[in-house]
Amino acid sequence: MFDSKLALSTPTINAMYTACTRAARGIVRDFGEVEHLQVSRKGPGDFVSKADMKSEQIIIDTLQKATPTYSMLVEESGAFVGREPDYRWIVDPLDGTTNFINAIPHFSISIGLEHKGEIIAGMVYDPIKDELFYAEKGKGAFLNEKRLRVSAKANFDDAVIGVTFPRRDDNNDFDFYKTLKEVEAHTAAVRRMGSAVLDLCYVAAGRYEAYWSHALSPWDMAAGSIIVKEAGGVVTDLKGKDTFMSTAHIIAGSESMHKKLLKLVK
Ligand code: IPD
Ligand code: CA
Ligand code: CA
Repeated sequence: MFDSKLALSTPTINAMYTACTRAARGIVRDFGEVEHLQVSRKGPGDFVSKADMKSEQIIIDTLQKATPTYSMLVEESGAFVGREPDYRWIVDPLDGTTNFINAIPHFSISIGLEHKGEIIAGMVYDPIKDELFYAEKGKGAFLNEKRLRVSAKANFDDAVIGVTFPRRDDNNDFDFYKTLKEVEAHTAAVRRMGSAVLDLCYVAAGRYEAYWSHALSPWDMAAGSIIVKEAGGVVTDLKGKDTFMSTAHIIAGSESMHKKLLKLVK
């Protein structure tokens, strides 16, 4: 479990950190159980939804203790308005559930903080790789103790691009498979790893040059979006506008790769 030093210590970062690491203890324990259940006939389905709910409750309790007046938007429990509606935590207690269910060690816990509609802080923890990504507006983005910068690659041919495939029932204005074909033809590789939250963090860390997705929920984007921005990247919706949290489609990358990918996706 996380044993690096936090490079940034503010009340917001500390609250997110306590919530993430508390929830992670249970998630890691439960993942061990899933690996075991995976090979059983019944499979780990019910067990996983309980693991998800447990993580969520730990995060809610911890954040409420730290900031009793803040509002919350939490994936499983929904939204509730606190005495301070301007501040809202946005939480995904387990992102990458399908990976988790199938004993694939790639998933995360995600907490973002919104102020008057703008995301101002975020933390994402991958407890298996012990990678903690975090950022606060104006203070930079970090992975464990290290400062993050988006990729400096200039050539689109060399780019590795992350993606989330749309679900069958997603109905939107974009031709996803046409774009995918184009992106595959013009870049080094496309990766679909199964945790949208981590995909955004991988852009911030320069592991992907850019990432796009056609249909996400606010808790899939909140924390990652500020981490990308604070690492020097650009985040918009698929039309190049700032409204990704409401349109639910998103594109993130270094400035030059964002521009190149946007051209293919638009
Ligand atoms: C999902 C993951 C996945 C993305 C889905 C999300 P969940 O979140 O981020 O990568 O493709 O659209 O719903 O359900 O594992 O929290
Ligand atoms: Ca999610
Ligand atoms: Ca989830």
